[in-house]
Amino acid sequence: MRIGVVGLGYVGLPLAVAFAEEGHEVVGLEADPRKVDAVARGESYIEDVPSDRLAALDGRLTPTSRYPDLSSCEAVIICVPTPLTNSREPDLSYMVDAATSLAAVLQQGQLIVLESTTYPGTTRERLRPILEESGLAAGRDFHLAFSPERIDPGRTDFTIRTTPKVVGGLTDACTERAVELYGQICDTVIEVSTPDAAELAKLLENIFRSVNIALVNELAMLCERLGIDIWEVVEAAASKPFGFMRFDPGPGMGGHCLPVDPFYLSYKAREHDFYTEFIELAGKINQNQPQWCVRRIERALNDAGKATNAARVLLLGVAYKAGVGDIRESPALKIIRSLRDLGADVSYHDPHVPELPDLGASSASLEESLESADLVCIITAHPSIDYRDVVERSALVLDFRGVTRDIEAANLVRL
Ligand SMILES: NC(=O)c1ccc[n+]([C@@H]2O[C@H](COP(=O)([O-])OP(=O)(O)OC[C@H]3O[C@@H](n4cnc5c(N)ncnc54)[C@H](O)[C@@H]3O)[C@@H](O)[C@H]2O)c1
Repeated sequence: MRIGVVGLGYVGLPLAVAFAEEGHEVVGLEADPRKVDAVARGESYIEDVPSDRLAALDGRLTPTSRYPDLSSCEAVIICVPTPLTNSREPDLSYMVDAATSLAAVLQQGQLIVLESTTYPGTTRERLRPILEESGLAAGRDFHLAFSPERIDPGRTDFTIRTTPKVVGGLTDACTERAVELYGQICDTVIEVSTPDAAELAKLLENIFRSVNIALVNELAMLCERLGIDIWEVVEAAASKPFGFMRFDPGPGMGGHCLPVDPFYLSYKAREHDFYTEFIELAGKINQNQPQWCVRRIERALNDAGKATNAARVLLLGVAYKAGVGDIRESPALKIIRSLRDLGADVSYHDPHVPELPDLGASSASLEESLESADLVCIITAHPSIDYRDVVERSALVLDFRGVTRDIEAANLVRL
């Protein structure tokens, strides 16, 4: 097959590579010329796709910024960003731009699939009319479906092939085409009756996580007052072999998905005069978590006889989760800004994030910075760091991730 992928980011690039590795010809349409050039040179900028996988494709992935290159594709999959506006409402402008450009080159018989996470109704109400400006009718002249992406950057135990893929087409024939497409790269494809059901299934997955993270974060705050170790509680509850799913507390949620996606649904719900209270409450708790961490940092410094505005604080990890370099919505950024506002001298070490240009900071050498810091805060549980060594060499350590659970030391405080 000849397959187009629009948006070669965290979602689109691994997807394009998966199809190319199955022997299909893939056209990768990307708006950022630096990414087009990088893929053309065989250089990957996504950690989960090593450059040697690009090199092994033998030219089956062609990057381009020209939409007419998509006209020869049997299927085109849209993987552009769906962020929030400053007023925390869905920003579908990337999808609208991509769809408008695609409509100009849309061909009879093509299958168009949207993978970007969005509220139920987007494929039918927003994407369809833009594509139909081509003069072609969805479900008759071209096929249209939604299939949510479930990629979890950094995860190796489940791959695109082994993670079941949900698809919902506008018509039965649309669904059938989409099932056939994803059957090329996924062992299991799950059909749902409409694109709307597929859109909402993705949101349910992410809202489920957001609500449960908020619940355990709130319990962590209560545990601090009660003098109970939250990690011990989570560990004990997780020993139940059924009816419980483990979520760990932490410094707050980050990434492109969990802090953003639930608000797509609350926006849609408001249109129907319905208020999604679980989403709002979880969002409030999770958004405030970094500020709560800052108060814990101030307390830890205070207990050690240090004023925050005279303290050197080293953050270990600034990525939003372990093993990756993604800093989007990372709680570390909020913590750094707040500590700087309080007058602290803040530095960071992250093997995956060499620079934080917006904050004018770069990753400090662990060797040199550990011993000079008044407080070392573990924000991201990167597996490459020896935390026992960190505790031994630091004046004071505050662990927000529970990675020091098997260490007992007088200079160690845990969330
Ligand atoms: N990152 C994840 O872990 C993840 C997981 C599941 C779902 N998603 C969803 O997938 C979608 C994409 O996310 P991502 O993380 O890959 O984003 P990303 O920012 O990494 O990649 C999107 C790419 O699309 C490009 N782009 C933007 N507008 C374009 C246009 N008009 N034409 C061509 N290219 C364009 C951007 O330059 C960028 O390279 C979002 O809706 C996101 O919510 C992401």
